[in-house]
Amino acid sequence: MEIQLWRSILCPYELAVKELTVKFEHIIKEHRENDLYSPIEQVSGRVKSVSSILEKMQRKHIPMERMEEEIEDIAGIRIICQFEEDIDTVASIIQNRSDMTIKSEKNYLKHIKQSGYRSYHLIIYYTVDTLNGPKKLQAEIQIRTMAMNFWATIEHSLQYKYKGDMPPHVAERLSNAADAIISLDHEMSSVRNEIMDAQNSSLMQSNLVKDILNNIENLYRVSNEREVVKIQAEFLRVFRAKDLQQLERFHRQLDIIAEGYRAQAVYHNLK
Ligand code: GTP
Ligand code: MG
Repeated sequence: MEIQLWRSILCPYELAVKELTVKFEHIIKEHRENDLYSPIEQVSGRVKSVSSILEKMQRKHIPMERMEEEIEDIAGIRIICQFEEDIDTVASIIQNRSDMTIKSEKNYLKHIKQSGYRSYHLIIYYTVDTLNGPKKLQAEIQIRTMAMNFWATIEHSLQYKYKGDMPPHVAERLSNAADAIISLDHEMSSVRNEIMDAQNSSLMQSNLVKDILNNIENLYRVSNEREVVKIQAEFLRVFRAKDLQQLERFHRQLDIIAEGYRAQAVYHNLK
């Protein structure tokens, strides 16, 4: 196949990876803006390189004309979660979406691979719009915790280094590390509620501060400077107190003040 052909075959996959990445990143944003804990921590994506595609076709005896059907991971998305419990949540978010259809799943959490690899994989169908109209293609979504990702990244590098011929002592170390990762994920799950509470509070604080500063900025335009300076000093005092409830109260009070000015502005415009 000529090089231009490869480019035109891979082009819709590049679009799919970009779109999917944006969509999953938006899920993080939606959670955070609503003061909700996000089951997704991080998203990345890649299009398989031509050399990896060729290598896989050779390894699995896939003819060129079957490439797009049989190589399901030309478009690849990786979703990293903080906790093992989040993986199911992400899977059901994907299941409920109207723009992604699940073709198959591989659960390497229930069925850990011989290597020690753990991850949850979905193959989805996803449609992109191209100059030639809609194109339905496949994408592989790997969902795993940060700890699982750490292990998989290291193991992948070692696989690459030893080209499938890993010395037994290295393989054993990796297998021990895989066990350690399992207990790490479990330990983390057992303090999940505490960690989530702490993260929620810090998220709420940052959203409140953003809102308050917005309000102060708006007030600066419509009210007098002295009042705004006073409000700002009060904000700093409340902020330094490091008490979320005080911050919430201040936020509400400021809202009432801002509302008063908005009402005045409307009245002023009506006059
Ligand atoms: P590949 O040809 O490797 O893509 O395998 P596959 O298409 O038969 O599917 P499989 O579910 O075995 O693997 C899909 C992907 O999961 C791989 O491309 C890797 O990214 C990842 N993976 C699977 N097994 C391992 C493993 O033992 N170690 C690491 N680090 N990654 C793995
Ligand atoms: Mg693969």
